[in-house]
Amino acid sequence: MDIETLQTELMAAIDSSDTLEGLEAVRVSALGKQGSVSALLKTMGGMSPEERQTQGPVINGLRESITSTLAAKKAELETAELSRRLATERIDMTLPAHETPRGTIHPVSQVMDELAEIFADMGFAVAEGPEIEDDWHNFTALNIPETHPARAMHDTFYFPDDMARDGQKMVLRTHTSPVQIRTMTSQEPPIRIIAPGRVYRSDSDATHTPMFHQIEGLVIDKGIHLGHLKWTLETFLKAYFEREDVVLRLRPSYFPFTEPSVEVDVGYSVINGKRVIGGSEGWMEVLGSGMVHRKVIEACGLDPDVWQGFAFGTGVDRLAMLKYGMDDLRPFFDGDNRWLQHYGFNALDVPTLSGGVGA
Ligand code: PHE
Repeated sequence: MDIETLQTELMAAIDSSDTLEGLEAVRVSALGKQGSVSALLKTMGGMSPEERQTQGPVINGLRESITSTLAAKKAELETAELSRRLATERIDMTLPAHETPRGTIHPVSQVMDELAEIFADMGFAVAEGPEIEDDWHNFTALNIPETHPARAMHDTFYFPDDMARDGQKMVLRTHTSPVQIRTMTSQEPPIRIIAPGRVYRSDSDATHTPMFHQIEGLVIDKGIHLGHLKWTLETFLKAYFEREDVVLRLRPSYFPFTEPSVEVDVGYSVINGKRVIGGSEGWMEVLGSGMVHRKVIEACGLDPDVWQGFAFGTGVDRLAMLKYGMDDLRPFFDGDNRWLQHYGFNALDVPTLSGGVGA
């Protein structure tokens, strides 16, 4: 068969292919190991130099034109296939969700909703701040200067120096406390806010993950004292654990940004070998708190002789574990559907104080 006839036949075969599989079969028949064009290319080895000079360009030209025509046809068939799928595949957005409730609300989201509901009832608004924070908001304004040993406690993820902003080194925030600063510098007191969100520390084991969740609380007003703090925490923890017999133990502690500082434990009882919140057989630490340090109030441009307040911070994941009985933190962030089916919450069951925040 002469080259011209072969070319005409192959072009016709490519042109009439209407599926990607059919086109691939044509490609193999021409350019595959046993293909007709490959066979022609092989004959060049046995040609005399003169013959090769005339035949070489013709055979190579054939190969090139077949290759490019194949590629063009392939692109055309792929576009047609995509258009066909776009025209035929549809999702019916009106399908009622409650007939097949497949997804679940993650316990962290559930607990954040529960906390927002509880604190909204006490007149707290929800505030937010960035997860990529500058050194001043995360540390300095919170009375943790550069040389302060508390910096070492935080296992901070620092950004490289060349990512500094306005001369400030950037960090992944190590706690939600910088939201205290952002709120005090942007709002007029009186202030009552909670700030839930992600925080980051370089730490990992069964009860620590490099990313976890905290919730911060801040009250700034006139004449605020430790009694207000104690009442607020007691009211919050009773509502959260849905028991009247929640007993708190306040221990003196130290945070650079509060003075005095108070660590709060809740009592538990052991029932059938399991720890149950309520009573006082043993104690579990649940949060850190204290009266906002004068220096912090001053750093935010407020007069500490006029404005006082309290702040608290606690781990949302830890609160979820205590209430819903998980003992390992790591599966919280694995995205394993079996875990989510087991510990997740019904998407249509929104926590309300009247209906029970516990879902
Ligand atoms: N920011 C503290 C921590 O991450 C918790 C805290 C918040 C303590 C507010 C006191 C007041 O451990």
